[in-house]
Amino acid sequence: MKLAIGCDHGGYELKQEILAHLTERGIEYTDLGCDDASSCDYPVYARKVTEQIQNGSADLGILICGTGIGMSMAANKESGIRAALCHDVFSAKATREHNDANVLCMGARVVGPGLALMIIDTFLDTPFSNDERHIRRISLFS
Ligand code: RB5
Repeated sequence: MKLAIGCDHGGYELKQEILAHLTERGIEYTDLGCDDASSCDYPVYARKVTEQIQNGSADLGILICGTGIGMSMAANKESGIRAALCHDVFSAKATREHNDANVLCMGARVVGPGLALMIIDTFLDTPFSNDERHIRRISLFS
């Protein structure tokens, strides 16, 4: 699995915890910034991550900002991107199975690191169902 991850200043600290967790799990990633907690614009980082998916450099992406909302709005403007804002484990599992979501967005001001890591593990470990009805539904909006 090829994974790209990005954040803005609101998500920087949580992203550091996520990177450590991914390393511990042996999951390789490309960290596309931001690189410190100084104020920056989340759409820039949403674009960097979605570009990696669009050009095949990444299969999945993770985007973290303060709420996760701006990142999900920006990511979903991009062709071929199915970004899901998830703050619970059920949604993370369901959006992989039903929506074949390729970007997970979370808000660092919404979830603590413990829950965030469970959501990430669930998202990364759950395959798309490949059910005909889900393929059809996705094709209706992509
Ligand atoms: C930054 O203050 C904040 O607006 C951003 O991280 C995010 O929550 C936007 O949706």
